Amino acid sequence: MRITPSLLSADFTRLAEEIRTVEKAGAHGLHLDVMDGHYVPNLTFGPMVVAAVRRCTDLPLDAHLMIENAPEHIRAYADAGADAIAVHPEAVPHLHKTLSDLRALDVRPGLAINPLSPLGSIEEALGAVDYAIVMSVNPGWGGQRFIDGSMDRIRQVRRLAERCNPSLEIVVDGGINASRIEAAREAGADVAVAGSAVFGAADPAAAVREMLTA
Ligand code: DX5
Ligand code: ZN
Repeated sequence: MRITPSLLSADFTRLAEEIRTVEKAGAHGLHLDVMDGHYVPNLTFGPMVVAAVRRCTDLPLDAHLMIENAPEHIRAYADAGADAIAVHPEAVPHLHKTLSDLRALDVRPGLAINPLSPLGSIEEALGAVDYAIVMSVNPGWGGQRFIDGSMDRIRQVRRLAERCNPSLEIVVDGGINASRIEAAREAGADVAVAGSAVFGAADPAAAVREMLTA
């Protein structure tokens, strides 16, 4: 299972140091939770912080856009250095066009699937993305409780992927800690995002290593 810590829970007074810590511990990438205060009530950071993170590390950066009007902003995140960008289909009126635009920007396109969003509505789209984020919390905050039933959601997305995109990478995002890694892997996830379980730990490096060996 690849581990991509979410910077949402990092100490922003020491962001470069926090990035170095998890990178040295073996993190496979960094998950950047972009929130605009409209699509979700929380407001986090924008392209400027993504560009600053880009200057700190060579790790792959995946931007998770929890924003309204995502299509209008994808170029800014691509230009800031995001290697992968996931959008919430509910915030994208013309999904095929936006996913094509992401590929044209040489960015890996992804979809973020909210808890209870009907999977039938995104089945076809799974063929047009490199990865799907299965949200195991409601978008908007770090440190929430893992939603029961999310492992089944991962299984369902994996089954859909077998039909329409066998190489789909499945990311599980929200409420993940070391004790959930094995079940998530067995359900079909390839990548785990962890924010508070990493940066809220007394020793974030040890927390990453524990997840890598779980
Ligand atoms: C929630 C975000 C998640 C969250 C993960 O809207 O998409 O990435 O920050 O943080 P934890 O691991 O603390 O749930
Ligand atoms: Zn996220």
